[in-house]
Amino acid sequence: MGWTTWGWTTWGWTTWGWTTWRRGALAAPLLALVGCAAAESHEAPPLASRIPHEQLATREDPIEPIPRGSSLDPRRVALGRQLFADKRLSGDGKKACTTCHDLARGGVVPGEARSTHPRAAPGPYNVPTVFNVAFDFRYNWDGKYKTLEEHLSAPLMSPVVMNGGGWKAVVARLERAYASAFFAAGYRDGVTRHGIESAIAIYQRSLTTPDAKFDRYLRGETQLSDRERAGYEIFKNVGCITCHQGINVGGNLFQRFGVMADALDGRQPTRLDMGRFLVTGKQRDMRVFRVPSLRNVALTAPYFHDGSAATLDDAVRHMGRVQLGYILTEHEVHSIVAFLETLTGRQPGTRR
Ligand code: HEC
Ligand code: HEC
Repeated sequence: MGWTTWGWTTWGWTTWGWTTWRRGALAAPLLALVGCAAAESHEAPPLASRIPHEQLATREDPIEPIPRGSSLDPRRVALGRQLFADKRLSGDGKKACTTCHDLARGGVVPGEARSTHPRAAPGPYNVPTVFNVAFDFRYNWDGKYKTLEEHLSAPLMSPVVMNGGGWKAVVARLERAYASAFFAAGYRDGVTRHGIESAIAIYQRSLTTPDAKFDRYLRGETQLSDRERAGYEIFKNVGCITCHQGINVGGNLFQRFGVMADALDGRQPTRLDMGRFLVTGKQRDMRVFRVPSLRNVALTAPYFHDGSAATLDDAVRHMGRVQLGYILTEHEVHSIVAFLETLTGRQPGTRR
């Protein structure tokens, strides 16, 4: 995959470079656009009308389809599914993972974590989806965790999320009900921290959303509408693709939120706007976040780490302006949104 090999050395547009770019035809206009956008924000004529036909999607696309099927152990997936929905994980017995990550609603509960904890100052993050986390390179908005196993303690032990009360207490609460299920799933030591981390992580890896219209298009099984295809071309040509690409259309890079303009629109920053700085303490990581996946993004409003964009239109418009210094026309916004809607795949919540 050519896309994984390039990187930013600093946060300016001038210093990044493609080490591999297989579609040379696109690179030049893209860079030119980014360059002129940097000089001034302006209304441009709709890009779609300027896109030559030979630049339509090919097998070399910078986005790859989500594989169908999986090789995960079904016994462990089933055990993890049960745990994920079990309120005994939480200290007060009132919250399960599904309380905030509802499989029937794109893997999120809109607004949940931001509203329910008066003691959590400053307000917690917008809830990201658990769908397709198998393909993310890091977890949480600041990308603090490298694996799902490692990540589990974060929601489980956080006093404002599950308040689990330490691993001994969690294991004790689950032991009686789950002992035989853990043995049956091949965890020879029964209910342990390791087994809980493993089963829930394996279950989460099973939550993929294959067969999105866009993936079927990439496989040559269906066609996009004119608007969807135009949206995809704009997405590539204005440069969204530089940050949102790969199998998850994101989830594989760290980037600053607000490359070309203040992403908070003058709002007073709080601790949670510091992004990766919270993890590394390095000034260059201030307001740097993991680029989120755009898979199923049509289902997961509101948007951004602070939930500040209520609709997908707003989020797309904002991205154009603050990440690319480019004011998208309404036509371009609607086309991009039509393209993003084709990234909604088969929902795991519906085949339970
Ligand atoms: C009170 C709401 C709430 C509950 C309950 C909750 N989460 Fe979350 N979850 C969140 C929020 C908010 C974030 C983002 C946290 C951050 O970025 O620091 C998150 C992030 C995640 C992520 C990272 C997703 C990504 O894209 O990086 C995973 C995986 C996850 N949660 C799994 C779980 C599991 C497993 C449980 C149960 C043990 C759980 N969550 C319980 C609200 C919740
Ligand atoms: C320089 C990298 C970069 C570019 C270019 C970029 N994005 Fe983003 N995108 C990000 C980051 C980082 C975030 C997370 C921002 C946050 O909330 O902290 C994000 C978030 C988003 C979200 C919200 C996802 C969610 O689940 O909340 C959408 C939608 C989005 N981008 C679409 C686009 C579109 C459309 C374009 C092109 C107009 C674009 N992005 C260009 C880096 C980028």
